[in-house]
Amino acid sequence: MNVRAALAEAAREVARRGLVTGTAGNVSLRNGNELLVTPTGRDLATVTESDIVTLDAEGRVLGGGKPTSEWQLHRAILAARPDLAAVVHTHSPHATAASALKRNIPAVHYMVVAAGGADIPCAPYATPGGEVLAAHAAAALAGRDACLLAHHGALAAGPTLAAAIALAVVVEDLARTWLTLLAVTPDPPSLGADDIAAMRTAWAAYRGSA
Ligand code: 13P
Repeated sequence: MNVRAALAEAAREVARRGLVTGTAGNVSLRNGNELLVTPTGRDLATVTESDIVTLDAEGRVLGGGKPTSEWQLHRAILAARPDLAAVVHTHSPHATAASALKRNIPAVHYMVVAAGGADIPCAPYATPGGEVLAAHAAAALAGRDACLLAHHGALAAGPTLAAAIALAVVVEDLARTWLTLLAVTPDPPSLGADDIAAMRTAWAAYRGSA
């Protein structure tokens, strides 16, 4: 499958998994010095290879129609993180609800290490589709591969489209677990630093064996 077809298939997969509704969400993929992104204003379930937009390193359109309004966010993250190649922005229901709390998701479950640390950070709110939000998102992803965007949704990134989508699913699941716990207690217990460190080692071994 060529890269544009792969990105379109990833966009449809994000929709199939219920991580977006309506025209929410967007997906990007690094392709050498270019950035491939989904088009703006489209239901990701319907995106096909010919809809994919190609941008240069400065964000100029090289091919395709109008890029996602969040292209700056995707560009900022991938520029700052050469180890990543794909970014998924969702409005998945529990992560989006959790984002309004403007708090990092704590280590209520061991899978938090899938994003690279002991929590899922929450980037401050900024108007969608702008450079300020892009800067907040890139800062939040400096030490993690996923974050919440306050009052907005979630971001997950990875070295491949499949890894980014898998992490977006984990973030949604962690947010659901956390919100479920918050309905029971205002201060859910979290794993300690030693358990997180051990789990990060175990996760690296698990990923290595996959
Ligand atoms: P686009 O339709 O421009 O990709 O925007 C959707 C969205 O989720 C904005 O944050």
